[in-house]
Amino acid sequence: EDSVPGFPAPTVHTQEAYDPAADFTAKWTRADARQIAAMSDPDAAPRANSLPEEFTMPTVPQDFPDMSNEEVWVWDSWTLTDENADQPSFKGWDVVFSLVADRSLGFDDRHTSARLGYFFRKSDVADRPVDGGWTYGGLVFPDGASGAIFEDQSFSHQTEWSGSTRIFDGNKLRIFYTGVAFYRNADGTDRKPYDPRIVQSEGRIFADENGVWMTGFRDQHDMLQADGTYYQDGAQNPFFNFRDPFTFEDPAHPGKTYMVFEGNTAAVRGERICTEEDLGYAEGDPHAETPDEVMDAGAHFQIANVGLAVADNAALTEWTFLPPILSANCVNDQTERPQIFIKDGKYYLFTITHRGTYAAGIDGPEGVYGFVGSGIRSDFQPVNRGSGLALASPSNLNFPAGTPFAPHVDQHPGQFQAYSHYVMPDGLVQSFIDTIGTSDDFVRGGTLAPTVRVDIDGDSVTVDRTYGVGGLGEWADIPTNYAHSIPASA
Ligand code: FRU
Repeated sequence: EDSVPGFPAPTVHTQEAYDPAADFTAKWTRADARQIAAMSDPDAAPRANSLPEEFTMPTVPQDFPDMSNEEVWVWDSWTLTDENADQPSFKGWDVVFSLVADRSLGFDDRHTSARLGYFFRKSDVADRPVDGGWTYGGLVFPDGASGAIFEDQSFSHQTEWSGSTRIFDGNKLRIFYTGVAFYRNADGTDRKPYDPRIVQSEGRIFADENGVWMTGFRDQHDMLQADGTYYQDGAQNPFFNFRDPFTFEDPAHPGKTYMVFEGNTAAVRGERICTEEDLGYAEGDPHAETPDEVMDAGAHFQIANVGLAVADNAALTEWTFLPPILSANCVNDQTERPQIFIKDGKYYLFTITHRGTYAAGIDGPEGVYGFVGSGIRSDFQPVNRGSGLALASPSNLNFPAGTPFAPHVDQHPGQFQAYSHYVMPDGLVQSFIDTIGTSDDFVRGGTLAPTVRVDIDGDSVTVDRTYGVGGLGEWADIPTNYAHSIPASA
């Protein structure tokens, strides 16, 4: 690959597929991720976007409608999916699952009180209300159900984090999610590390002309806990990441069900594990760094991976860990809500990350990252000039990030406009609104952003600005793309 003057060349990745069980983990290298800085305009003025427009989500206006009539905070969301990650409607209804929290909590306090809630609306309606036309259905699980899996019931907080919902024959649903217990002291410090687990619960969905409801979800199958071998656990690092299961079938391995999830490389926090391969520089690259240099700067505290597991039974309650399919050692600490998207025979791994979780010496925006290969385990090629950046929030990398609750005065007002993007059929991308604005004038979100669309073609992912108005589609638009077939007897 040619390099941008002043920057290293990205690492060469073959896209070659390996057996899903093989001991091969693709690397998102520092040489790759530094292509983001290479495409950022060093002269972009305060509050301007420094990133290429074709990779940037259009700016979301501040006057957004609220999809729950201000009943709950809404963030990470997904619809019903099948084994191909298609999105069926159920008896003429679109159904969405969202992390929700009570509006009496501050928006930034939502994470330790998240519950799975659901919304529904009629499918295939031409003119919807501006807020997306959703009805809030309430919580999915019976009270107390998701807390029951924890042997140590002395938790201070217990919460339900992201996942995905699969629909099976008739009206059977299996929800894959992250069950989390926190053990905190009154002052907020940890009495012992938090305990995130990948859990499945089975229920039933029903609908009539008035709406959608669900039953079941009492039994919770505690399926996977980080093993400390492939996936970092709480003994190795109390701040480990282990969550966000997404299941699918791979046409290349019929009859098997796989799961991708967010993890970290299994090392003790602070261990100097980053190698030349994690850095990924070509021999003699004048802009190369050495592992010692980057670890002396602290980059080895950021060691994200994307995990893979395979189901051992038809009920999808038993799983075996496989080696991670991607690592980001000394690059970034979080590769969240990973998903596999198959198009034109290519396998895209999409994941989201934050500007604030990049390793020392690497910078990049909030947004979607993409990696393309020939199978679910591949020597993945990071999309877009070798960088991995698929869809950025408008950002100015010349100025500090600030935070969603205290945006920086010189940042683009859209830097925290959206997060937790999920790529849907036809390249539609949904996300939730976090903060829109800069330090002197910002509003917090807690509802879904306008849906946008990306064109996915080989190793290029670009924003479709002909979609909606200037690239912004409808608010909170999570459409279905076919009708689930239900036997007449159901
Ligand atoms: C993404 C995320 C997920 C997690 C949830 C917790 O926005 O960090 O990884 O499941 O939010 O609120």
